[in-house]
Amino acid sequence: MSLTQEINRRRTFGIISHPDAGKTTLTEKLLLFGGAIQEAGAVKSNKIKKGATSDFMEIERQRGISVATSVLAFLYKDKKINILDTPGHKDFAEDTFRTLTAVDSVIVVIDVAKGVEEQTEKLVEVCRMRNIPMIVFINKLDREGKDAFDLLDEVEQKLGLKVVPLSFPIGMGYDFKGIYNIWERKLNLFSDESKQKVTKGIEFDDLNDPELNEYIGEDAADTLREELELVEEVYPSFDQEAYQAGNLQPVFFGSALNNFGVKELLDCFIEIAPAPQSKMSDVRLVDSKEDKFTGFVFKIHANMDPKHRDRLAFVKVVSGVFRRNTNYLHVKLGKKMKFSSPNAFFAEKKQIVDESFPGDIVGLHDTGNFKIGDTLTEGEILEFKGIPSFSPEHFRYVNNADPMKAKQLAKGLDQLMDEGVAQLFTLELNGRKVIGTVGALQFEVIQYRLEHEYGASCNYEMVNVHKACWVEPTDSNNDEFKEFKRVKQRFLARDKRGQLVFLADSAFTVQMTQQKYPSVKLHFVSEYEATASPV
Ligand code: G4P
Repeated sequence: MSLTQEINRRRTFGIISHPDAGKTTLTEKLLLFGGAIQEAGAVKSNKIKKGATSDFMEIERQRGISVATSVLAFLYKDKKINILDTPGHKDFAEDTFRTLTAVDSVIVVIDVAKGVEEQTEKLVEVCRMRNIPMIVFINKLDREGKDAFDLLDEVEQKLGLKVVPLSFPIGMGYDFKGIYNIWERKLNLFSDESKQKVTKGIEFDDLNDPELNEYIGEDAADTLREELELVEEVYPSFDQEAYQAGNLQPVFFGSALNNFGVKELLDCFIEIAPAPQSKMSDVRLVDSKEDKFTGFVFKIHANMDPKHRDRLAFVKVVSGVFRRNTNYLHVKLGKKMKFSSPNAFFAEKKQIVDESFPGDIVGLHDTGNFKIGDTLTEGEILEFKGIPSFSPEHFRYVNNADPMKAKQLAKGLDQLMDEGVAQLFTLELNGRKVIGTVGALQFEVIQYRLEHEYGASCNYEMVNVHKACWVEPTDSNNDEFKEFKRVKQRFLARDKRGQLVFLADSAFTVQMTQQKYPSVKLHFVSEYEATASPV
């Protein structure tokens, strides 16, 4: 198969949702269609259950599972599908943001009763910023929920999307009769015994066909005809180009648990979703069809065995072919490296592969060379952009609790930060270290892992920081900048990459600082080209 054919048959995507909307269930049902698993219940949920936030065994167990479910690949029809798993827990949102840099499209799962929830809003915003193509799946139609039109409105308003329904529900909850698949012009009748089966659609080109009444009853048939007429009037017709550009979002309805509407979603997805895309680097746009290999690290996972410190770096292949035992340039380190046992992922298994193509994810064993965002090439000096750090929400001083273990602590912190567990800021004035996290849970995870994996112990101390603001470099002769640095000296720190960061203690301080020093540009994101305007 040619490189172009390999690329065209790949679909790499992520499923995002608010916890409990049905992401895990949907993933599992998709795998079922691919024959990657034989029965439901085989995919363990990669989520930390509610109420288990301090249960370290749970965290450790989840870490184990999340390696296995980081990438779930399967074949469906003639396509190779890679699902990149994203943690549902909000404390791990940063992980999800990073994974979104490696997908070519996403499916957004929404609970029909709960509608658009907080976590969905945040994740969709990130996808919108990057113009990632999105398909919406409205789940749990077997339960009483919101009216379909109200929900479509809510999705448009709260998520800022432009939707086009490609299927439509017939009734809901107790009265749920099925869906009309607008995309394929087929009627799918619901039976709650369909969990493991694929239901067959009945073709209906003309909805006025009286046969429709026989299937779903006269009242439901009339309502469906009216609703579909309204759909046609209100919503635009589907346009693949607009969808792939991130300007139009198709919507499907169904019930993941009952395996209903899932096949329709998958069949449409493989047809319309984009194959692996070109990606912008700091010097040029890299086309996936170029024959030279390029790729970047979007996730690092520590090995589960604490005695072996090796880690798995997840590399998304952007262009060309990644080959085993071949020298590649680690651009940031300026170092040639080759890999004798790169892992590919299939269903829930890891296996050593000789070749990987654009869209694929390769797991590379790493002893500390990789950081998130690092680029590998065949020799060209370029780095992929777009793995920003967002300002953490929680901050603490971290202190060494065992003077004999200072080295272990430094090493442990260094490696955990490479993995992206949290962010470390070193104060310019006195070298004290401040850890910033998205959720409070990470502080406990860090303490636990430092102790168990590095034999180091630490304690935390409160520090009054509201947000980390990355400071755009300016001319060092700029008097305003000099003044800013002098006055704010105590609050200035360096992040892991050495960028200057202002640790502001309140939203008011951020505002005042911007007013007082207008030429000093502050950003809540480490890579600020994406957001353009300062805070
Ligand atoms: P998540 O990964 O998005 O967090 O959600 P997950 O798939 O774990 O689903 C959350 C709950 O919603 C699960 O129930 C799951 O069985 C249920 N669910 C998923 N899809 C549907 C659906 O189409 N209809 C109905 N009625 N329920 C659905 P749970 O009781 O929390 O967990 P479990 O004990 O069943 O695993």
